[in-house]
Amino acid sequence: MGKDVIVACDFASAAQTFAFLDRFTEEKPFVKIGMELFYAEGPSIVRELKARGHKIFLDLKLHDIPNTVKKSMAVLSRLDVDICNLHAGGTIPMMQAALEGLTREDGTRPLLIAVTQLTSTDQETMERDLMIHAPIAEVVMHYAKNAKDAGLDGVVCSPLEAQKVHELCGSDFLTVTPGVRFADGDVGDQKRVMTPAQAKEIGSDYIVVGRPITAAEDPVAAYRRCLREFVD
Ligand code: C5P
Repeated sequence: MGKDVIVACDFASAAQTFAFLDRFTEEKPFVKIGMELFYAEGPSIVRELKARGHKIFLDLKLHDIPNTVKKSMAVLSRLDVDICNLHAGGTIPMMQAALEGLTREDGTRPLLIAVTQLTSTDQETMERDLMIHAPIAEVVMHYAKNAKDAGLDGVVCSPLEAQKVHELCGSDFLTVTPGVRFADGDVGDQKRVMTPAQAKEIGSDYIVVGRPITAAEDPVAAYRRCLREFVD
């Protein structure tokens, strides 16, 4: 898979999701399904979107003992998602078990990427609540390296971290970056943002874009603008 724009379908129901996606008559965007939609609708939302021809990043961020993660990943693999993820904080044995679970009998599997430290965690909360005392930027890179060592395909990271991740883990280690905004758009609650063109410049492999597309007056035009800036 090459560079692409992944549309974050942060909707509460299948009906809202399909109403949104029905506006795309020419393209079949790569979509991200998160916990809210998956827990509301279950695996049928994945099957339905696959049947409609969409690629799917299933953003469920697994984190449990290796055996449980392995078995759960086997279920997601049978659902034929294209990308799924877990928390690198679950440690290398958990990430290795996840890969085993994902791998089908014929050797194929969905891409597996890791969340390092959530962007909602800052230095203070990491030290206070998790008793991790290294600088957060170092922790993020350490977790990325663990993911690489475990055999994963990449990480979810801020566009600002993508370059460093590539330097540390290699240019073929995927960086999937949310926090994307148009130069003339609303930033909303995102703190550190980049435009699609800047994300391309610094080497992001996939950008995850939600509200700049889902809340746009013309979502199809906004999606095309992302593609023009990031992919073309
Ligand atoms: O609407 P917006 O473009 O901000 O949506 C970004 C998407 O990426 C959301 O689904 C959000 O949960 C997700 N995300 C993020 N920051 C992270 C990890 C995931 O914004 N660090």
